[in-house]
Amino acid sequence: MVCEIWTPNRNTDKSIHQQIFHYLEDRIITGEWPAGYKLTPQRKLAEELNVHRSTIVNVLEDLKSSGLIEGQKGSATRVTTNINAFLTNGNRVNWDFRIKNAIYKESPPFLKTINNLELDSNIIQLSRAELADGFFPKYQMREITRLVGENLNYLGKEDPKGYFPLRESIARHLKNYGINTSPDCILVTSGATQGLQLIALGLLEKGSTVFLDTPSYLYSRHAFQSAGINLRGVSMDEKGMIPFEICNLRNYQNRAAIYSIPSFHNPTGIVMPPSRRNSILEMCLKQRLPLIEDDVYRDLWIDEPTPPPMKSMEGGNSVLYVGSLSKSLSPGLRIGWTVANKQVIERLADIKLQLDNGSSILPQHIAYEWLKGQFYNEYLMEIRKKLRVRRDFLLYMLEKHLGGIASWKVPTGGFFIWVNLNKCKSVHHLYLRLLNRGILIHPGSIYNEDRHNYVRLSFSYASMEELEEGIVVLAEELLKL
Ligand SMILES: Cc1ncc(COP(=O)(O)O)c(C=O)c1O
Repeated sequence: MVCEIWTPNRNTDKSIHQQIFHYLEDRIITGEWPAGYKLTPQRKLAEELNVHRSTIVNVLEDLKSSGLIEGQKGSATRVTTNINAFLTNGNRVNWDFRIKNAIYKESPPFLKTINNLELDSNIIQLSRAELADGFFPKYQMREITRLVGENLNYLGKEDPKGYFPLRESIARHLKNYGINTSPDCILVTSGATQGLQLIALGLLEKGSTVFLDTPSYLYSRHAFQSAGINLRGVSMDEKGMIPFEICNLRNYQNRAAIYSIPSFHNPTGIVMPPSRRNSILEMCLKQRLPLIEDDVYRDLWIDEPTPPPMKSMEGGNSVLYVGSLSKSLSPGLRIGWTVANKQVIERLADIKLQLDNGSSILPQHIAYEWLKGQFYNEYLMEIRKKLRVRRDFLLYMLEKHLGGIASWKVPTGGFFIWVNLNKCKSVHHLYLRLLNRGILIHPGSIYNEDRHNYVRLSFSYASMEELEEGIVVLAEELLKL
């Protein structure tokens, strides 16, 4: 039986997951719960500790992998039978210490929790940055996969830069956006994420600084910090990053870069107009700083085509361009690309070779089939229509239930509506209350502490019924705060 008084503290830096883990671990290590002791069933434990059941499931999984508890699916979970021998064995590896002190940082605990909750099909996902399951082109994908299988002759090692025909078709695809490049200047990566990691590892010295939009997708990720790189925020207005704030970075010399998401920015949905793109690029050129242009949402415009990428503009040679099929087609395919000059691509490909010996070939063949003709462009036209319906419905719901108590801008593409809950003092409390009612949002505070009255709502994943329920409950809970 769990001690009735203890519940996790919601006002500390320690995640709920960590607190429950350590609480249960203590009961076992101190012998309070002896070998074979039967733990309270998951659902009841969740109620007692006032947390979501998925949190308990994850904690129990971790205790199991630590060897402290055991139990098969369907049977009771118990303290490991030989727990005493296990604990007195002085040779036990201190995994906790190792994990906390290793080079690569752990994901922020809060993000880990959200990532787990995003996989829970019982929760209404107003958070997930991906296309709805129902949008997945399963018949075309099955057909393409079958074709790839039939034509398969060999599964050997490829050029570390990626499958050549795929790089050719990416180059052709990018030409539609005004980027003139060649397969030699393209590296196929495991999603855009790997492109960012390779840039951090291959082109930035330890202690360098990356200047980035505030808020930004990267604040919640550790790709750069784990490589010993500092992040410094640059303010945004309704046109995106403000160039003035990066006009005087000369003293950083070779120890800085700019990172921006100019198209359908995550989390604000902002699109940088061409004039602003020009100014940002000009600033970078003047100071000889590389500009990392993260353009993963480019293909998802709804109202009008996305402005040309900075990579396509005069001076685009300084741009490290990162793209992906994760948002527009499938996050599970893990196909992304980085475009830069040949010397840089050789460097990043060398690191990739050292890290993973090159990307898996099958997804590259599949991506090639999608990109080689007009198939992908025709598919995108359908996706845009579907996204427009979801976006308009979410806007309608917001107007109906939050009109007057919140404000937002109409996104012209992408997945997100960045909502300012005018009077909300703690979006974290709102997040917890919504979670209690089975709805997941991204509180603005995960992107930046001072965004405590913002939420990022995604219209790409939840169904229309779920969007409606989500907003009705959001309005109810907001009024109660
Ligand atoms: C701006 C931005 N860049 C990169 C990524 C990661 O993309 P991928 O799944 O291709 O690694 C995301 C995912 O949410 C994103 O929002």
